[in-house]
Amino acid sequence: MSHGAMNLAGPVRVVSESYYPEAFLGIYQRPAEARAMFEARGWNTVAALQLRNPMHNAHAYLARIAMEVCDGIYVHQLIGKLKAGDIPADVRVKAIAVLMNKYFRKERVIQGGYPMEMRYAGPREALLHAVFRQNYGCSHLIVGRDHAGVGDTYGPYDAQKIFHEIPPGALLLKPLPLDWAFYCYECGGMASMKTCPHDSQAVIDDQGNYKGGARLMLSGTLLRKLLSEGKPVPKEFSKPEVMTVLREYYDKPRTKPEVQHPGTARN
Ligand code: ADX
Repeated sequence: MSHGAMNLAGPVRVVSESYYPEAFLGIYQRPAEARAMFEARGWNTVAALQLRNPMHNAHAYLARIAMEVCDGIYVHQLIGKLKAGDIPADVRVKAIAVLMNKYFRKERVIQGGYPMEMRYAGPREALLHAVFRQNYGCSHLIVGRDHAGVGDTYGPYDAQKIFHEIPPGALLLKPLPLDWAFYCYECGGMASMKTCPHDSQAVIDDQGNYKGGARLMLSGTLLRKLLSEGKPVPKEFSKPEVMTVLREYYDKPRTKPEVQHPGTARN
């Protein structure tokens, strides 16, 4: 990584926060507000979970792993613009809320949103995400499979590797690299490439029923594709409360977005 001959520094003044504070009341937080919330809860270590998709079971699995090693989780989603076919932020906020309310300890998790447009810049965006989360007071950033990726543009772990390329001490926040997670019918629960010995792919019929094999790969793209085509989603994919929120959105004809062919975006 290189930089030019000149660097600029000095106080920064925000001229406009745009529509975010009003449109995302209670979700939009400024860095100082997030830090104050963490302090009020007595959290010394906080893992940020970057999200642009509603939380499916792989995201929830990553969040739980991070909760085992950090005091709290900041589910910190992007509330700016996304590419066509992604699920809008207001629907995602609802889906995350129902999941958090029922399946996470309230005192260990906070849902927040930050005002940026998704860049789909993979590893470099992961670094940008890390700098933001450091400013927000997080000690860790979860970096999973193909973080901020699109299609096959980046390797699945490029966004983890880039953290080894920056100068030591350049970042206070630490990445929390987590492996590709999926539901495994043989393991009988969530697992990852690092832990699961069953190599076969799960076979699911048109009704969403399990027919054999082991690994059900969970991705936002597949979930959006099944929903937009009105197809059943295997129950292992996401919690029923989340699916209810998403189905409400997809059932409205005017909001039905077209999802690109599966190779276009894996996340
Ligand atoms: S992203 O564009 O913001 O990366 P998404 O909201 O799907 O998309 O992912 C949020 C975080 O979860 C990223 O760190 C991503 O790498 C991770 N992630 C998503 N799905 C998986 C999965 N199946 N296994 C491991 N990590 C995942």
